[in-house]
Amino acid sequence: MVSTSDTTVLIFGASGDLTSRKLIPALFRLSQQQYLSSRCAVIGVARRPKSHHEFRTEMRDTVQARLGENKFDAAAWDVFAQQLFYQQLDITNPDEYATLRTSVQTIESQVGAGNASARIVYLATTPDLIAPAVEGLSTSGMIPPRESESLLRVVVEKPFGRDLSSAQDLTIALSRHLQESQIYRIDHYLGKETVQNILLFRFGNAIFEPLLNRNHVDHIQITVAEALGMEGARGGYYDTSGAMRDVLQNHVLQLLCLIAMDPPSLFHGREIRDEKMKVLQALRPGVIGPVGNWAIRGQYAAGLVNGQPALAYRKEDRVNPNSNRETYVAMRVALDNWRWAGVPFFLRTGKRMPKQLTEIAIQFKNPPLNLFSTVECDGDLCDLVETRPNTLILRIQPQEAISLRFSTKRPGMNYQVQPVSMDFEYGDHFTAQLPEAYERLLLDVMRGDSTLFTRSDELEAAWRFVTPVLESWESSNSVPDLYPAGTWGPTSADRLISETKSRWRAPT
Ligand SMILES: NC(=O)c1ccc[n+]([C@@H]2O[C@H](COP(=O)([O-])OP(=O)(O)OC[C@H]3O[C@@H](n4cnc5c(N)ncnc54)[C@H](OP(=O)(O)O)[C@@H]3O)[C@@H](O)[C@H]2O)c1
Repeated sequence: MVSTSDTTVLIFGASGDLTSRKLIPALFRLSQQQYLSSRCAVIGVARRPKSHHEFRTEMRDTVQARLGENKFDAAAWDVFAQQLFYQQLDITNPDEYATLRTSVQTIESQVGAGNASARIVYLATTPDLIAPAVEGLSTSGMIPPRESESLLRVVVEKPFGRDLSSAQDLTIALSRHLQESQIYRIDHYLGKETVQNILLFRFGNAIFEPLLNRNHVDHIQITVAEALGMEGARGGYYDTSGAMRDVLQNHVLQLLCLIAMDPPSLFHGREIRDEKMKVLQALRPGVIGPVGNWAIRGQYAAGLVNGQPALAYRKEDRVNPNSNRETYVAMRVALDNWRWAGVPFFLRTGKRMPKQLTEIAIQFKNPPLNLFSTVECDGDLCDLVETRPNTLILRIQPQEAISLRFSTKRPGMNYQVQPVSMDFEYGDHFTAQLPEAYERLLLDVMRGDSTLFTRSDELEAAWRFVTPVLESWESSNSVPDLYPAGTWGPTSADRLISETKSRWRAPT
């Protein structure tokens, strides 16, 4: 195991939910696996006064509660805790950064970090604090000169803006003091093992890639479904955001890029991001005409999820009872390039769907001639049974898997068609626990590898595509189409796909 070189990780927003639920557990796991050099300091930074000891105790309690008594390794925690520190700072007060700088230097010398150690500032705070934080780092001299830019990396959490113009403002605010190579916009989806496997599956095997184009693919469906609603007081935030901003603009479009991009010439950050960018540049509405022809928004009404009654969205805690916020989006889009011209891509995401599921389903074209159609009768009821199109499914979560559906001959004296599938499940083949997304992404920042982070041009291209849809919804008097909680979305979304003689998958 190779540990990172000396790195100081400053987490702004250290008393927040993200820090205790994701960042500290991820850093602890990296420490347990000896990925964290003993000269790496992790410094929590937030407004409330707190001693190092109080911070360590709070973090230990949360991590222990999450892992459970049996799985928590107290000895390993004691090693990690030696590297854990706290510094009070009001991000909006420029006068406090000089103290921060001195404290960081003191802590770095305490853990034995060399002068050339890199610093990572993880902004786990609300977006309005990003600009003041970067200003403060700059005025206190914590941003190194251009020739040593790799000594500071700043991690920014989503949301990266609410629309095109706010995303551009954010980019301008960051670029006033930082180079693009110093900015790591984190989309935790890209840290998932199975998302990264899309690239290896496509470009590490010779037999699938030649089929992924307009000659063989009928259409592609990308689904990011959640069974959850507005638990944990999430309604307040969600009601200002919605499914488009929260999931489609980032996670779904990133999955689209990974499945549709051309092979990069090198497996390096710049080359991969260049190819993803070309996909976003080729992105178009799948049907001409008004937004309603190719994008549908929905909102859940009361229903049953996994047999349990679920409230309507408008009745959820902290949600405006007249809210028109979308909890579901479906889109038919197209890519104007040689590889994908004429192939529809169907994208959908929603809350309160029957189950949590993220998958990419590639449906291939039918064979040019159907030689095996048979009529099967049960009493008076007869059915035409034909070969079904092959489908390749990349399941990202849960139970990460790759599955290929094809037709086979049912044993017997006649040629009868039987659809079957070949399945590869991660859990069956690999016993090692898959690393958490944040673990992988934090390690990448420490290594200075930006491959799995979103570049500003990708971000802008994604916003450029979805902003007109949001504006059209927000300026019109229309309301989202309702769907009962526990279903796969409003029936209006069927219209998008039925023209292609297909239907949305309803995976069991
Ligand atoms: N939570 C998640 O799972 C999650 C997932 C994806 C993205 N995100 C994003 O990550 C960011 C943080 O989310 P969160 O849920 O952790 O937020 P949170 O629980 O509300 O925590 C906010 C943190 O910011 C600190 N803070 C606020 N004002 C400050 C100031 N003026 N100076 C210094 N510190 C200040 C707070 O410190 P004090 O308590 O000391 O005031 C607190 O530590 C948000 O942008 C969110 O959208 C979160």
